[in-house]
Amino acid sequence: MVAQTELPYPPDELRRRVGQPGDVPSYDQVGKECRDQLLAALPADWSFSGRRVLDFGCGAGRTLRHFADEAGEAEFWGCDVDDASIAWLREHAGDRFTLRRVSDAPGLDAPDGHFDLVYAFSVFTHLSEHWAGWMLELHRVMRDDGLMLATFLGPEFAAELAGEHLEEDHVGMLVLGAGRPWDEGGPCTVVSRWWLEAHWGRAFDVLGLEPGGWVDGRARQGTALLRKRKVDLCARDLERPEPGEPREPIALQVAQNVMIRDTARIAASQAERIRELSTSIEELSASREVVYSSRSWRLTAPLRGFAARARRRR
Ligand SMILES: C[S@@+](CC[C@H](N)C(=O)[O-])C[C@H]1O[C@@H](n2cnc3c(N)ncnc32)[C@H](O)[C@@H]1O
Repeated sequence: MVAQTELPYPPDELRRRVGQPGDVPSYDQVGKECRDQLLAALPADWSFSGRRVLDFGCGAGRTLRHFADEAGEAEFWGCDVDDASIAWLREHAGDRFTLRRVSDAPGLDAPDGHFDLVYAFSVFTHLSEHWAGWMLELHRVMRDDGLMLATFLGPEFAAELAGEHLEEDHVGMLVLGAGRPWDEGGPCTVVSRWWLEAHWGRAFDVLGLEPGGWVDGRARQGTALLRKRKVDLCARDLERPEPGEPREPIALQVAQNVMIRDTARIAASQAERIRELSTSIEELSASREVVYSSRSWRLTAPLRGFAARARRRR
């Protein structure tokens, strides 16, 4: 059996893609903590023997690698949108895990009711327009009464992510940094607990909800332990506002304003980058001019002409 300690570590760019700083010890530590969080949330009599488990958004296996031993007695799958991460995992741990590359839009090549357990660390915290479709796709591939552990970013992280403090009652779901590349942290989706219970709760019984926060100076996401409900729903059913919930219209209004400010901030920082790039290009052109008009450039012109003719002849 290949123990996790025998698996190599993915290269720097794949480690950084799933979180900073990306050095091997912190990468390993976060993966271990996710494993511990999952084990702590599962029922006391849980056993992996003979189970089918999916790591949704596995990256290059930061958490999955810590289940290499259990993968000897259970079927462990990992899926991700990132080609390079799945290719790396296939090469180094393909004999241990079943791996799938998926698209941003929902769709996993797995049979209905296949998994006993799905876990998603720091994935729904980044999904925007396809969150509901993915939640239902996972619902489809889970067996009835199957369990899912998914992490979420609550409004306690709004000051950090949106640059402003937001009250739990004023937040439903809001997306910050939509379209931001993954190596810069990707987009971030903030949800409040009341909203999560109302919307995710339509497809799953919410068995446990642990708020996130700061532990030893590090951000720890909230966790939701969910059990599949036997319901037949479409994405719109999960998205629609909770009837009679007075916080929904307030949250929608707040989300709109926060997202307008977020878009303006991103546009301003892009404009600043473009200005910096233009200045560098101007400086480069100016130094080229200095070279082209120099005496030595003019004196060596016949040599360059000779070299060009020689290249053409070859
Ligand atoms: C912050 S990383 C977390 C990775 C891993 N769960 C862990 O804890 O190490 C988020 C991961 O979700 C993946 N991802 C984003 N959208 C996805 C989607 N629609 N389906 C599957 N994976 C997705 C990203 O490519 C990335 O690897």
